[in-house]
Amino acid sequence: MNDLQKEIIKLKEEKNAIILAHNYQTGDIQEIADFMGDSLELCIKASEIEGKDLVVFCGVDFMAETAAILNPDKKIIIPDHQAECPMAHMLPADEVIKAKERHPGAAVVLYVNTLAEAKAEADILCTSSNAVKIVNSLDEDTVLFGPDMNLAWYTSQQTDKEIITIPEGGHCYVHKMFTTGDIFFSREKYPDADILVHPECDPEIQKFADYVLSTGGMLKHVAESPKKTFIIGTEVDLVTRLKRENPEKTIIPALSEAICKTMKLHTLEKVKNALLNEECIVTVDDETADNARSAVERMIEVSK
Ligand code: 13P
Ligand code: SF4
Repeated sequence: MNDLQKEIIKLKEEKNAIILAHNYQTGDIQEIADFMGDSLELCIKASEIEGKDLVVFCGVDFMAETAAILNPDKKIIIPDHQAECPMAHMLPADEVIKAKERHPGAAVVLYVNTLAEAKAEADILCTSSNAVKIVNSLDEDTVLFGPDMNLAWYTSQQTDKEIITIPEGGHCYVHKMFTTGDIFFSREKYPDADILVHPECDPEIQKFADYVLSTGGMLKHVAESPKKTFIIGTEVDLVTRLKRENPEKTIIPALSEAICKTMKLHTLEKVKNALLNEECIVTVDDETADNARSAVERMIEVSK
């Protein structure tokens, strides 16, 4: 650990804080996190926090907001308040309301990558690791699903329910970067490798991969598989974590340019300042949080 990391650990103890980090954080932040995970694991962890005064969330806005929704009595801070997920901003709450009016009787399943106001309009949330399970748990035959059209496609392949995607064309610019050429190149160069891709990738990428998994699913797969080489089709810093935790295996990014710029806005310096100054505070108004909480909690319940 470097001096700055040691300072952060000391400060974290003095402030009785916990640091949560998404798997796309840089290696130096991964090293000082108390807990790292995919979106679902972070939601579950955030729902179980006890005895801490402060939660530092190294992830993007919708993740920190979800932690705030689940912990109305705790201070949730994000090291850089500009760390937004562009996809989460593609589905405003009023679009969800309009879709509900057009399709009365349909269930509303929103990806956790949405803002709190949209979540407040959902019946239940999902993440990339549980979308199929969530959709199949519903009584309704028709499901409004958004904002990621690729996760919607992935889910539609594994359910008999009618999936109506909202909005048109919701996507993640990072996972849109992968081309079939990237996958074919990896297959040719590493014929014995398992190719793992995220369900936010385009359908043709998913079709040519060996496994379609959330970031948490990829970590589990690599740890448990007897294979030696893995091609990773998601954001590059998942590879950083995979390499650290599986030093005996060969982990190769399918595309080293797949970088989520806003995830990288957090730095050790900003984590230190966030702890020192107890900012930037993430807030969700009470009414929105109350309405969104039931959709988050329902997802956690179904995922158990
Ligand atoms: P995971 O839940 O798989 O970590 O995905 C989160 C995300 O934002 C993917 O881009
Ligand atoms: Fe959002 Fe894509 Fe970044 Fe995930 S990788 S946080 S979906 S922009």
